[in-house]
Amino acid sequence: MTPVISFRGISKEFAGNGRNTVVKAVDSVDLDVEQGTIMGIIGYSGAGKSTLVRLVNGLEAPTGGSVVVNGKDLSGLREKDLRVLRADVGMIFQQFNLFNSRTAAGNVAYPLKLAGWPAQRRRARVAELLDFVGIAEKARQYPSQLSGGQKQRVGIARALATSPTILLADEATSALDPETTRDVLALLKKINRELGTTIVVITHEMEVVSSLCDRVAVMEDGRVIEHGPIYDVFANPQQPATRRLVHSALHDRPTEETLRRLRRQFTGRIVAVAIRDGGATLAALAAKLDQHQVRATIIYGGIGELADKPFGSITYELAGDDTSVDAVIAELAEVATVEELNPGAGSEVLAQGAGGVR
Ligand SMILES: Nc1ncnc2c1ncn2[C@@H]1O[C@H](COP(=O)(O)OP(=O)(O)O)[C@@H](O)[C@H]1O
Ligand SMILES: [Mg+2]
Repeated sequence: MTPVISFRGISKEFAGNGRNTVVKAVDSVDLDVEQGTIMGIIGYSGAGKSTLVRLVNGLEAPTGGSVVVNGKDLSGLREKDLRVLRADVGMIFQQFNLFNSRTAAGNVAYPLKLAGWPAQRRRARVAELLDFVGIAEKARQYPSQLSGGQKQRVGIARALATSPTILLADEATSALDPETTRDVLALLKKINRELGTTIVVITHEMEVVSSLCDRVAVMEDGRVIEHGPIYDVFANPQQPATRRLVHSALHDRPTEETLRRLRRQFTGRIVAVAIRDGGATLAALAAKLDQHQVRATIIYGGIGELADKPFGSITYELAGDDTSVDAVIAELAEVATVEELNPGAGSEVLAQGAGGVR
């Protein structure tokens, strides 16, 4: 696989508020984006996600390191070369960034005009693009007459106008309701599959990553703290920030607040059992739980799919004498990753079973 984007020790500093202070928005990032993949970049607000992708189309210049896009090192490029580069790197935004004084068709035609396309070819290309994104009938409407989802489709058609090989999406669905978000994500998937476009998606919404992306990079304080195929990163997060992002989005584990409530209601020991591909099946868990004088009650859980594989967690109350509960936990740990949960204590990984690490 050839990377279409390579970040090599890339940094971007901004002047801070105080005198002589600097903000390291991006801090020594090394990362490759392979051709034809959909890469998610996640992290909390201020992590440096937007700055990192703005370095890809030259909207920001790095203060250190280099970015190579389609084999070209951007640091050497002049303004003229940057314009050529930008025709090959489309971008869509949270607030759509459409011209309100132009119709949908006028917005999509704009980059073609800049690229010097003659009017007739432009018209044909615009019609084709609006059809591709599913809003052919809205060609003559102005942005104020369009819904959020329709506006983003115009933004996508405009970004695709010059047939870029890379599409950057910065929180492109964050202003949309869940149903419209799903439609736009489906469109992005179609672009990737049918046009082979490499897509980089910045988001703070984990659902976007889990339903769309092949790979994910997690950013914190300007750094990429972990990256890899989404299943590997989500199933086995190495960094505390990644764990928080994963569990808060997948709702598969009780939050601290929920755990306190559960603790008041259930007085036995509380353990979370990870359900993973190739790990414990629910039947195997049930069989283990049956063997001891322990009453197991499911008190929290969520199992879904991630990258088409089972993924989630079940939280049990285990009621019985300590020795028996310990024996049950040891047996569960043979087939799954088991954590005992106590309010305020964080969680303790008791064992990594067959279901844990892949
Ligand atoms: N033009 C700028 N001038 C000064 N600081 C900036 C600028 N752009 C971003 N920053 C700072 O850089 C950090 C990363 O910002 P950003 O890349 O927008 O993060 P994210 O997209 O993950 O929310 C933040 O601390 C932000 O305040
Ligand atoms: Mg941002």
